[in-house]
Amino acid sequence: MQRVRCGARREYTMRILGIETSCDETGVAIYDHVNGLLAHAVYTQTAIHAPFGGVVPELASRDHLRKLLPMVHSTIQQAGLAPQQIDGLAYTKGPGLAGALLVGAMLGRALAFAWQIPAIGVHHLEGHLLAPFLEPLPPDFPFVALLVSGGHTELIKVEGIGQYTLIGDTLDDAAGEAFDKTAKLLGLGYPGGAALAALAEQGDPNRFYFPRPMIDRPGLDFSFSGLKTYAANICRDHRIDNEINEQTKADIACAFQAAVVETLVVKCRRAIKETGMKRLVIAGGVGANMALRKALQTLAEKLQITLYFPRMEFCTDNGAMIAYAGCRRLMAGECDDLSVMVHPRWPLDEL
Ligand code: KG4
Ligand code: ZN
Repeated sequence: MQRVRCGARREYTMRILGIETSCDETGVAIYDHVNGLLAHAVYTQTAIHAPFGGVVPELASRDHLRKLLPMVHSTIQQAGLAPQQIDGLAYTKGPGLAGALLVGAMLGRALAFAWQIPAIGVHHLEGHLLAPFLEPLPPDFPFVALLVSGGHTELIKVEGIGQYTLIGDTLDDAAGEAFDKTAKLLGLGYPGGAALAALAEQGDPNRFYFPRPMIDRPGLDFSFSGLKTYAANICRDHRIDNEINEQTKADIACAFQAAVVETLVVKCRRAIKETGMKRLVIAGGVGANMALRKALQTLAEKLQITLYFPRMEFCTDNGAMIAYAGCRRLMAGECDDLSVMVHPRWPLDEL
């Protein structure tokens, strides 16, 4: 990776424009290191991809291309700034869809060149990890982070910016992916994580019981692909005239969610015990799940540790987390050279 030092650590106010285009959300934000978040906007492409039951990479890139520049203009306006008042630019450099990443990286680099300001490519997962720092009571380092999104389920020991040790990972599906696949089975559309969570509210928690994968094995790894198969089998057994009744769907959703939540809680408890950390951070789209937040809050009280999570809208993909992560790195004197490079695959511990 071509990362250069752009001079001394910056001590004056920095306003960073953040751009996120790694998947199916176009996110733009302006973060000011003294005054916090000045403006942000997220446009979600779900309506475009829903008919296909998943993200279509080419459609994602084309839509980012259409939406990004107008969103940059309107977000700068919303912050009450002129482009000359932006001091640095941060764009998501990976991991993600290559074409989608390239749209953000190309525009980010071009604007930085035109405005003669430094730019930096940010790791998408670092953005998620640091999203709780956008809240009024941010965590201190070190902490354990549970990163649960559509593409990742990881436990990470975080000792500072860029000091990340992966201590647990999924062997197959990510938690969000399991939510989405089970939601699809229940006919809830794509991405169905939030819809499944809403349906689970109506479910009877005592009707079905899903296995809790890997909790009886030592270690901090996860495996969620079996849950989708388990759900598929229950659906098959309860289909009448090719239909599953609405109450049965809600009961399946409820039992599925309970299994994911309990599995995540068991592994978080283990991670806290093994590392001796006093802080737990939840990040990523599945962090918006209320049942998970509640269960982890109960765990935190039992273990006498503090739980931190971003507000709901900053759990899922957004530009604010990229602006924040970029700001921390640019202020430390880092920036990227003029070449436009993206990393569709980029393990966090390579940072
Ligand atoms: O972090 P994110 O926006 O994108 C990735 O980087 O993957 O996470 C999206 C994932 C999707 O799988 C979505 O279904 C899931 O987060 N998600 C939820 C909820 N809201 C979003 N899963 C469970 N409960 C929710 N309330
Ligand atoms: Zn994400």
